[in-house]
Amino acid sequence: MKLVRHAYDSGIRYFDTSISFTYSDSQAIIGKAVQDVRDNVFITTKVDFWDISKPDGRFTKVPRGEAIRQVEMNLKELESDYIDAILIHGTPGVEQMTVEQCMEVHGELVKARDKGLVRFVGFSAHHYFDKALALISTNEFDLCMLAYGYLPRGNSRLFSPRTTELRNACLAKADDLQMGIVAMKVLGAGMLGGSGKKELEGLPSAAIRYVLQDERVHMLTIGMRTPVEVEANIKTLVGDTNYTNEDRALLASVSAAVLSDENVKKMSVE
Ligand SMILES: NC(=O)c1ccc[n+]([C@@H]2O[C@H](COP(=O)([O-])OP(=O)(O)OC[C@H]3O[C@@H](n4cnc5c(N)ncnc54)[C@H](OP(=O)(O)O)[C@@H]3O)[C@@H](O)[C@H]2O)c1
Repeated sequence: MKLVRHAYDSGIRYFDTSISFTYSDSQAIIGKAVQDVRDNVFITTKVDFWDISKPDGRFTKVPRGEAIRQVEMNLKELESDYIDAILIHGTPGVEQMTVEQCMEVHGELVKARDKGLVRFVGFSAHHYFDKALALISTNEFDLCMLAYGYLPRGNSRLFSPRTTELRNACLAKADDLQMGIVAMKVLGAGMLGGSGKKELEGLPSAAIRYVLQDERVHMLTIGMRTPVEVEANIKTLVGDTNYTNEDRALLASVSAAVLSDENVKKMSVE
């Protein structure tokens, strides 16, 4: 809670959380930390679809009313009477669902928007960008959160050139439709954090500036664990954000090393 409040006091106004078990009690922590300044912050949270009885988590039928039930649970955990943006979670969620199932959930979320419980409806995607492109193309979503960083990676997978191409098509279409675009994996889920090495201290800011070059992106959601990371990232954002030749060279050499690491090589490519 202290870190969230520290982030707020340092100027951060966008907070990302989820109902998903992978986010632990982050909703309650964020909700409490910003309760007295609720209208000054933008909170994104998610609904999450995962059929635990199936090995691949796929739903044959998405339970009716489940999205609304989760919106209500999110509101309770956040101790708020509204959510700024609600996303259909990428994984588990969009990855395991068909486009038609996502649109059924979308229909429920729109009802929540009509009731004033949520302001904007979106979805997130790690690597299933063919589905993401279909969802964007419906022009029914307000925003999308896409894996977009220097390292071609989503959650547990690296991108093939085709996946990067599809992700870029998502960006172009979402921009064309004037949707909100949020980038995740900006620091390669920590792989571009620099691991505390002195010679790599410029790495996180180079990775942030890489994504900032793209003016179609409205928001960067960056995971931060310590006040030092919060301060360093704010310094990058308020400083000169031009992507430099030094940034380019540093990212090229580090990502070549990261991608040739034996553990990274074991990640599946899609
Ligand atoms: N919608 C979705 O499906 C979805 C999926 C994934 C993530 N997200 C959201 O996106 C957020 C970011 O997650 P991500 O996976 O995209 O990771 P990321 O932002 O690419 O990387 C985050 C990690 O980078 C490191 N870091 C951040 N600032 C740093 C700095 N200044 N110096 C050194 N290291 C720094 C931290 O690593 P250490 O922990 O090692 O310090 C941090 O945990 C999550 O918290 C979540 O809210 C959403």
